[in-house]
Amino acid sequence: MKLTLLVENNPEIESFYKLNLHTWLGLETVTQNSSEAASKYLETQSENINLIIVRCHIGKAQTAKKLMADLKIKALNIPVIVIGPGVVPEVVCVPNSLEIKILIKAAAAALNITAKEMAAKVVSDYFPIPVIYFKAIKRSVCPVYLRNNERFNLSNEKLIDFKPGFIDDLLANGIQTLYIDKMDRLDFVNNVTAELIAALRMEDLSEDENISAIDTSIELLSKKLLLMGINEETVGLAKKNIAAISETAKRNKQLSKLLERLTSNKASYLYKHTQILTYVSFHIIHNIDWGNSEQEEKISFIAFFHDLALENEEQCQIHSTHELKNSTLSDEKKTLVEKHAQLSAEYITKFPHAPMGADQIIRQHHGQLHGLGFSDNYGANMTPMAIVFIVAEEFTRMIIANPDITLEEILKELRVVFTTNRFLKFVEKLETILV
Ligand SMILES: [Fe+2]
Ligand SMILES: [Fe+2]
Repeated sequence: MKLTLLVENNPEIESFYKLNLHTWLGLETVTQNSSEAASKYLETQSENINLIIVRCHIGKAQTAKKLMADLKIKALNIPVIVIGPGVVPEVVCVPNSLEIKILIKAAAAALNITAKEMAAKVVSDYFPIPVIYFKAIKRSVCPVYLRNNERFNLSNEKLIDFKPGFIDDLLANGIQTLYIDKMDRLDFVNNVTAELIAALRMEDLSEDENISAIDTSIELLSKKLLLMGINEETVGLAKKNIAAISETAKRNKQLSKLLERLTSNKASYLYKHTQILTYVSFHIIHNIDWGNSEQEEKISFIAFFHDLALENEEQCQIHSTHELKNSTLSDEKKTLVEKHAQLSAEYITKFPHAPMGADQIIRQHHGQLHGLGFSDNYGANMTPMAIVFIVAEEFTRMIIANPDITLEEILKELRVVFTTNRFLKFVEKLETILV
């Protein structure tokens, strides 16, 4: 059987690449951690390699370029996929190492594997997964089986936490493989991948990879909140995400560039909305006399949670009773959208040490005191922070809907939407935002 040579030095990335390449395309991989090690390996093993996946740069080394030069010298004609950031001319480049789907597609194309062929390859009803991957998760999204000769016995129910020491006990008993129903394999692998990506250290990632990692992590958290609500696990993940979004907002100096980056990395609407909203809110906070780091923390917390009860782009875009009524959503989903401010606020009430008043602002973010439905008539007793948030959200909505809109056009529209002085004084602060 031919192998794929992976040239990568990050063990976490290596881990989910291997799992995905195996599950989606049936590929077995061997890893080398530098171009030098890969070149040496190829001296004796090149006949066994059918594809090379190499990171563009490892540390300061131009890994892909060096390896390509070596392949030329050795006259080896093996397809190569380069993982960015960075581009090597005339080679297939995956711009962002966390875009697994793009990598899988590129690998399938390089090896001429079609989805149909891949599905036909999986013959057994139970799909083997190395035990080691279960260390990345606390529970499985599907039932897990242990093999006993020809029988497969249920070992873990889906979505129930593994017992402490479960994996170590298996390994201690020499059990290296667990099994899942073959129909569950893509869900399972997507979940393990999301967990591994969410656990990556943001400081090790490029700007584009950061965007992908946060996006994956938010989606994972939304699912976990539905499953288990607020607990130590979800609190930890939420804090990590809020910090990453705040950092991204501060690092990116120009709004349109940030928006472009989010779009080119195919960020979900929910993340894009939260990221831009955090940026815009920070701008207001930094330009008012009572703005300080505590307020910054509060608004980033609110921006993160306010729509978290929603499930997709269609639901997130609804912002009036009229739009909700005319949407194609089912009655159940309409109720979810109607109640989302209240539901999101409920998460906060259970969140330990949540910023003071955050739940109230989330509950009122569509203008209704109790968090149900939408209203354009904001009550007289709204706090200044709630008003900052509402103005920033309207600004965000406009620029995402029309990225070519000018600042003047946005400000003009905002002055039509918000007519009272307590709103207009914050609209004014947006005159200096760098679009
Ligand atoms: Fe929103
Ligand atoms: Fe909302």
